[in-house]
Amino acid sequence: MTISNFQNIILKWYAKNRRPMPFRETLDPYKILVSEIMLQQTQVSRGMEKYKEFLKIFPTLQSLAATDDKTLMRTWKGLGYWRRAKFLKETAKEIVKNKNGVFPKTPNELEKLPGIGPYTARALACFAFGSKEAFIDTNIRRVYIHFFFPDKKNISDGEILKIAEKAVLQKNPREWHYALFDYGAMELKDKTINKRAKKYARQSKFEGSFRFFRTKVVRLLLEEKEEKIPVSKIHNTLKKELSKHKSAYKKEEVINSLLKDKLIKKRGAFYSI
Ligand code: ADE
Repeated sequence: MTISNFQNIILKWYAKNRRPMPFRETLDPYKILVSEIMLQQTQVSRGMEKYKEFLKIFPTLQSLAATDDKTLMRTWKGLGYWRRAKFLKETAKEIVKNKNGVFPKTPNELEKLPGIGPYTARALACFAFGSKEAFIDTNIRRVYIHFFFPDKKNISDGEILKIAEKAVLQKNPREWHYALFDYGAMELKDKTINKRAKKYARQSKFEGSFRFFRTKVVRLLLEEKEEKIPVSKIHNTLKKELSKHKSAYKKEEVINSLLKDKLIKKRGAFYSI
């Protein structure tokens, strides 16, 4: 398969199958960042709903930077991975305070911001600023493995990126990456393709996982009318949940991880968001 044959197949397919999405209609780096963080953990259809909801409450970088954590977490509810919401706010604060509200434009600079890894930095630089650097997510990885590594196992992202860099459509890197997402998601239904990648991360079961118990605590604190809840109440609820699921996790592990991530605070004998 030559690069130019590959590009032709993808673009021809995309011309007939392109999926409209609100975050594909904007060049605002703030909105694009919100969408990319959400889409790393949720399906596109659900991501689109939450994206609109989130931007109604936080229409600008400044409004997100200025919010209190409870409003932030309440808005994030249903998405899980609470740390990402906190990172998003920290990034907003950093840009408002130290960069005059202006996003950096290169992947290297973007990667220095809280919670922004190699994928997010390159996707954001591409969609907001027209960067031509390649990047791969789970759908894009499937496309490259399908076309360029039909028989190989244990394929590294480095090997894939070497080809992906040559394939980026120079005259329109934005549409090129949208096309790859869509082809991988809609046309390659065989979800076992990615098992041949070294980096094969299947989302693990939520019920009974460490994340599940963390979420129990966060939700309890979000749902109460009171600003703070006695330590004993949280500990009891968590203990019950852990034993209900016959979990080997300790309640201290769960609480300490939340404190460490600054998702909850402890003041005297109370926890709060
Ligand atoms: N369009 C823009 N970003 C996307 C993503 N992360 N996944 C699928 N489609 C997208």
